[in-house]
This record gives sequence, C-alpha cells and structure tokens, in this order.
Amino acid sequence: MLKGRHLIKPSDFSVSEIDEICSLAEQIIVDPTSFQDVCRGKILATLFFEPSTRTRLSFEAAMLHLGGAVEGFSDAANSSTSKGESLADTIRTVSSYVDVIAMRNPKEGAALVASRYAECPVINAGDGGHFHPTQTLTDMLTIRALKGGFEGHTIGFCGDLKFGRTVHSLTEAMSRYKNNKFIFISPKELAVPEYITEYLDSVGVPYTTAERLESVIGDVDILYMTRVQKERFFNEQDYIRLKDSYILDRQKMTLAAKNMIVLHPLPRVNEISPEVDDDPRAAYFKQVKYGMYVRMALIAKLVGAL
Ligand code: NCD
Repeated sequence: MLKGRHLIKPSDFSVSEIDEICSLAEQIIVDPTSFQDVCRGKILATLFFEPSTRTRLSFEAAMLHLGGAVEGFSDAANSSTSKGESLADTIRTVSSYVDVIAMRNPKEGAALVASRYAECPVINAGDGGHFHPTQTLTDMLTIRALKGGFEGHTIGFCGDLKFGRTVHSLTEAMSRYKNNKFIFISPKELAVPEYITEYLDSVGVPYTTAERLESVIGDVDILYMTRVQKERFFNEQDYIRLKDSYILDRQKMTLAAKNMIVLHPLPRVNEISPEVDDDPRAAYFKQVKYGMYVRMALIAKLVGAL
C-alpha cells in the first residue's frame, strides 16, 4: 500500500513496490488517455530550493497529465524562506494546502525532516549530495525497458561519485537485486563515499574501482555517466582541475559492447560529447521520457488515486 507514504530514499519502498510503480508507468506509456483524469481535484506542490529543469518540470507535467493541479516555487528567494522561515514551518503550511509535495533542498536530510512535519506525502527530489530516489525510479524504468530487468548487470558509474546523489541512490537500489556488480570510475578525489562501499560490503555486493574509463568500458552493460557537481565544491580550483576528468566520445564508444547502454541523469556538461547522441546505445534522452511516466505512476499511487 503506497497511499500516504513518503519517498526519501530508494529503500523506503520494497522491491515489489518498485515493481508495482514500474508496471503502472508501463501501462501509462501504452495508454496515457486512460489516466488523464485520475488525479482530478488533487494538488502537487513543487518546492525547489535548488535549480532543476527535468525533475521539477517532469513532476509538474506528470501531475497535469493525470488531471491534477500544481503550485510551488522554483527559487526559495521567492518564498518566506528568504525571510528566515524554517523548513518545518514551510512544510506544515504547504502540506495543509496540497495532497503531495515534491521537494529539492541543498541540505542532506532536508526531505526526511520535512516528512516529519508534513500532513501529506513528501517526495525527495534531491537532498544535497545524498539521495535522489525519483531519478532512481527513472533509471530503473529505463533499465527495465532497455535491458529487460534488474538482475545480472555490470554497472559502471563514471564521474563525480562523491557528490553525485543519483549514483548513491541507484547503487543502493540496484544492490537489492541478484548478480549485479558495480565498477566505480572516478578520480581519487571524487570516489564514492565510504558509507556506500561499507553498505555494499555489508550486503556482499561486489564492486571494483578504476580511474581510466577506457580500461573498463568494455566490461559494462550499463554505463552511468555523471556531471562533476560544481555547486558542491568548496574550492573553484579543484572543480576546474577535475571537471573534464572524463569525456565519453565516439572513440571510447568503439571499446564498448554492442548492447551496452549509456545513461546520464542530465544535465550534461562536457562528460558526453554530443557526437555520441546518435549512437543507438545512447539512452539518456529516452531516460528523460521515462522520468515523467514513472513520476505519474508514483504520484497516482501516493495520493491514492490508483
Ligand atoms: C541530477 C541531480 O539533480 O542530482 N539531475 C537530475 O535531477 N536529473 C544530476 C545533476 O544535477 O548532475
């Protein structure tokens, strides 16, 4: 039963609940008009204290496609946060107006705090460098559609694995399925946090690390590229030194398997050359579309419309 639940991190939902959401998203993709009124009379609030294009707009499009309404802000400067209001008070207020809240905040743990004060479900749309569970649902729906399921994959995560919340989320989620392996490809300074590797050790999921993409690209079924997270660096010089650590181009794609897929949560900066976009293995713009459908399924379930 997903009605009324919060989604703060991927493991808040069981494996069968994730299947339920993906299956509903697949039904919506096949026949969207059957779902165009299921959220009539319901309101989604999008509270974005950090920039966003895809996440916020796909949440809003999702609710509108379900026949519901949307309100919110995309810049905290326009909300009473700028007057010093606490997150708790903002959430108490907004949750008394709406049926579900999607929020993004630069502080790790902010969505969890919000869920403690909310009268309605809270969806974490990204909390600092921590988790981004609806990007994970997006990634999983894409993997299910293009790779047939969630088991038996070698997933290479490449780029900023230290600050990349989409990486932390997807690693947690995919470690629950059988026979998955991870290859973490990053400079030493941007390595995946220890709390993630300690978790993988504790559940016995195998992983290796690498610094050169060329040396492992041939071994992966799924290559998950990420942007170096400029906004989370303390020092601009470090960002400039590390920002172009990896650039996936046609040349490197010749080393990859024919049925490998490339995912990226987007926005991309330089880490995937546009010349790769025409490669049939480039799946990141398909992933964008799956993101809206999976958010439709999630909203419909959390508000109890389906
Ligand atoms: C990601 C995020 O915000 O964490 N973007 C997204 O939601 N699709 C990735 C990023 O900003 O690099």
